[in-house]
Amino acid sequence: MDKKKNISMAVIKRLPKYHRYLMDLMKNDVDRISSKELSEKIGFTASQIRQDLNCFGDFGQQGYGYNVGELYGQICNILGLTKTYKTVIIGAGNIGQAIANYTRFEKIGFRLEAIFDINPKLIGIRIRDIEIRDIDYLDDYLKESSIDIGVICVPNNNAQKVCDILVKNKVKGIWNFAPVDLVTPEGIKIENVHLSDSLLTLTCLLNDID
Ligand code: NAI
Repeated sequence: MDKKKNISMAVIKRLPKYHRYLMDLMKNDVDRISSKELSEKIGFTASQIRQDLNCFGDFGQQGYGYNVGELYGQICNILGLTKTYKTVIIGAGNIGQAIANYTRFEKIGFRLEAIFDINPKLIGIRIRDIEIRDIDYLDDYLKESSIDIGVICVPNNNAQKVCDILVKNKVKGIWNFAPVDLVTPEGIKIENVHLSDSLLTLTCLLNDID
């Protein structure tokens, strides 16, 4: 898996799409596929697919194509989906609750351990059997539990503060929904999700100048 260190971000960003399509093929009992057929389904060129997959080893066989199950297993491996990730959500408002309620994340290994909020009206409420805790106890909680991923779903102005507590307590990855550029020390992995960027891309496309 050392090879992974030199893989470009562009390839990494394409992997979830491979994962999704391969999972569908498996569900439909397809056990092998050529890069050309995969290309028609997935929308990347066949040479792009070969190039991407070659980054991780020799998967395909000339004249045979890819073994779907094997390739799926390798992609899961590369994506780190063979482990479980202990996760906490900070901010139990609209987005925090939507994520907490989305059970499919659990199926790919994200184990929601706790939810925190600052609002006394929310503290004590249960979402899928997980009680919303008082943010004042986040620091203590993290000291005692080794959490892998912190999901930040608080307003902009509180996001950095929350992030600092997560980082101080050695949370390794941050999934940030607040529209703010968080400052973190080197080594902390951050993935920002900005739904509004995607929406603005759509509005731009709708207003394409011809
Ligand atoms: P919301 O107002 O419904 O929920 C925010 C929650 O955070 C509230 O329950 C509040 O009590 C809690 N909170 C505030 N300060 C806190 C702190 N210091 N510690 C713990 N909890 C705290 O907001 P919503 O709609 O869920 O949005 C959450 C964040 O996501 C906001 O930053 C918003 O701007 C952002 N957002 C991001 C989108 C995206 O595409 N990533 C789309 C929409 C919103």
